Amino acid sequence: MGEIPIIDSRKRAQASTGVAEEPPATKAVFVKTFGCQMNVYDSDRMMEALAREGYGVTDSPGDADLIILNTCHIREKAAEKVYSELGRLKQLKDLRRADGKQTVIAVAGCVAQAEGAEITTRQPAVDLVIGPQSYHRLPSLIGRVSRGESRIVETEFPQEDKFQSLPERAVQRNPSAFLTVQEGCDKFCTFCVVPYTRGIEVSRPVADVEKEARKLVASGVRELTLLGQNVNAYHGQGPDGRSVSLAGLLDRLSAIEGLARLRYTTSHPRDMSEDLIAAHAGNPKLMPFLHLPVQSGSDRILAAMNRKHTAQEYLRLIARIRAARPDIALSSDFIVGFPGETEADFEATLDLVRAVGFAQTFSFKYSARPGTPAATAGDQVPEAIKTERLARLQDLLESQQAAFNAALVGRVVPVLFERKGRHEGQIVGRSPYLQLVHADAAADLIGQIRPVAVRSASQLTLSGVIETA
Ligand code: SAH
Ligand code: SF4
Ligand code: F3S
Repeated sequence: MGEIPIIDSRKRAQASTGVAEEPPATKAVFVKTFGCQMNVYDSDRMMEALAREGYGVTDSPGDADLIILNTCHIREKAAEKVYSELGRLKQLKDLRRADGKQTVIAVAGCVAQAEGAEITTRQPAVDLVIGPQSYHRLPSLIGRVSRGESRIVETEFPQEDKFQSLPERAVQRNPSAFLTVQEGCDKFCTFCVVPYTRGIEVSRPVADVEKEARKLVASGVRELTLLGQNVNAYHGQGPDGRSVSLAGLLDRLSAIEGLARLRYTTSHPRDMSEDLIAAHAGNPKLMPFLHLPVQSGSDRILAAMNRKHTAQEYLRLIARIRAARPDIALSSDFIVGFPGETEADFEATLDLVRAVGFAQTFSFKYSARPGTPAATAGDQVPEAIKTERLARLQDLLESQQAAFNAALVGRVVPVLFERKGRHEGQIVGRSPYLQLVHADAAADLIGQIRPVAVRSASQLTLSGVIETA
């Protein structure tokens, strides 16, 4: 999925807040989220579960009785950030102890899953290590810590279904919400830790997803982004026991009244089925945006990555998707400097980018991850070459994004407003193509969709004027 280097989850933390059944907050939790959208979703659900236990969310770690780092293991830098953060938190814990206050430090997410007890060895101030499949047990594990247990490590994949064990969704303040429908991955790309940290591919049953979606929409959500490490491989059990595809799920969800927009991420090119492509033509609630990571444009590198398709196959797939939905905005992830990547391989990536024309992208230097096959390949690419290739690739991608945005100037797009902007009197939302759009308007339009005449564009955002009827 469009992995985001770090998400400042503090704002997001406030997005879901108290429901009526919750007890008044007597303790405070601070959550910091690293990594992808699925971690953002997991953090929200952890906070909702903790609200039941009397935890209110704080954006200041110094005030927190419980600190959770929800971590990402995808690249070395992401994992190392966790340890430097833990070093700071240890000092904070010592300071609070001198004041007579207890602070529980928990490490959740993919570093927790990958490194387990090693985390408490490297940083003994950590009380609890909890994997992505176990966080529904968080309240009871925190209970054990407060009764004096320390260094608890919970990283087994449990028998029970975490989703069934979590409380129902709380009231959301953000009109756009994530909903995890599928977890794990069986693709085993040779660079990637996800199959090891998130386990095998599992789809949630349709009824379960529908129930959560209805609850979210009833509490004010207008847009749902369905999440999965490999979301287009979704094959959840339908009400009649038969398997339902992602297109089928989108179709059912689009029947929910009040829900205006649907998105999904991340997809694998090999699982882009005919019915899903057709949904982009036929389902009016499905937004014209697709994140379809290609990683490289070189067939040799794609094969070494175990991506299971060629550059030509990807381009043909893009052509079919564009035939179904000509205005679709395309997005991708790229890795430069994969082991063995030559200048010619890298240029094949630039060629593919020129052939597609992307609306927005994420691009990364290859990072060797312990335990993955590519990490031990002999022909690692020197750091300086990776840096140079990434800069060239990003130049091209940024110019494509700027061009995509500029093409909207003078047009009118429907915008779902999500929050206040940085400037007084400004609100911010998203176009159907996932562009950020700024407009001057009162905050009571947040949660509503309005036509916006786009007046100017930059590489990252659009701004415009709301059209009145
Ligand atoms: N299923 C998602 C995976 C999320 S990881 C997907 O296929 O997109 C998000 C992105 O991180 C990947 O697409 C890839 O571009 C990048 N990535 C994964 N492992 C990496 C590594 N070892 N080094 C650099 N980038 C990596
Ligand atoms: Fe990782 Fe590949 Fe699975 Fe994506 S498809 S999560 S890159 S193994
Ligand atoms: Fe990172 Fe785990 Fe997501 S490794 S990208 S947080 S699935």
